[in-house]
Amino acid sequence: MPQLDPRQQLRKQIRLQRSALSPLQQLEASQAILEYLQDDPEFIPMQRVALYLAFDGELDLSLLINCLWQQGKQVYVPLVDPTKNGEMCFHRYQASSPLQANRFGIGEPIFDAKQVIDAQQLDLILAPLVAFDSQGNRLGMGGGYYDRLLAQISGDKPLVIGLAHDCQQINEVPVQAWDQPLKRIITPSRYWCW
Ligand SMILES: Nc1ncnc2c1ncn2[C@@H]1O[C@H](COP(=O)(O)OP(=O)(O)OP(=O)(O)O)[C@@H](O)[C@H]1O
Ligand SMILES: [Mg+2]
Repeated sequence: MPQLDPRQQLRKQIRLQRSALSPLQQLEASQAILEYLQDDPEFIPMQRVALYLAFDGELDLSLLINCLWQQGKQVYVPLVDPTKNGEMCFHRYQASSPLQANRFGIGEPIFDAKQVIDAQQLDLILAPLVAFDSQGNRLGMGGGYYDRLLAQISGDKPLVIGLAHDCQQINEVPVQAWDQPLKRIITPSRYWCW
């Protein structure tokens, strides 16, 4: 059998650990993230928030999404942009949004170009990840979507925060030249800032 490269091996290992978390651990993690954000004065004025619909044991943001909707804030989720070659876009996600199953079987909004927002208009992007290290290096699912997007963002807006379970921390991410490090990561036990 061909050997997986180190990044692929890490993805496989950490995804398995993440998927093994119990429903209670998942719930407690979701509640912890909600509390960090609700207590963060920076978060209160933020109106346009991009996040993700969890799968594969990713930290579930359903509680946060409901909270944002109740506060009248605008929620966006990443979709692969069918009008562009291999680019991700952020698409409005409302309680009333018609959904269809994506390639992971997760319901996501049906693409409508009018509901796509330019990333620079967002106040906050909550980014998923597979593994991270104590320097803020990030390993994603392997599509390069966030790397390409984050490479275009400069300055303080939008604020980008990676979200992960504690078990997703590894000693050292074997970084590649195109990987975009994160300046902030929140896990249930810690708010990392670099
Ligand atoms: N800024 C960029 N410009 C062009 N290609 C890029 C850029 N960033 C990443 N890529 C390409 O994307 C591919 C996947 O990158 P990588 O393995 O780092 O994905 P990832 O960080 O795990 O995924 P994601 O960013 O979607 O979470 C690489 O082969 C790389 O060539
Ligand atoms: Mg990368």
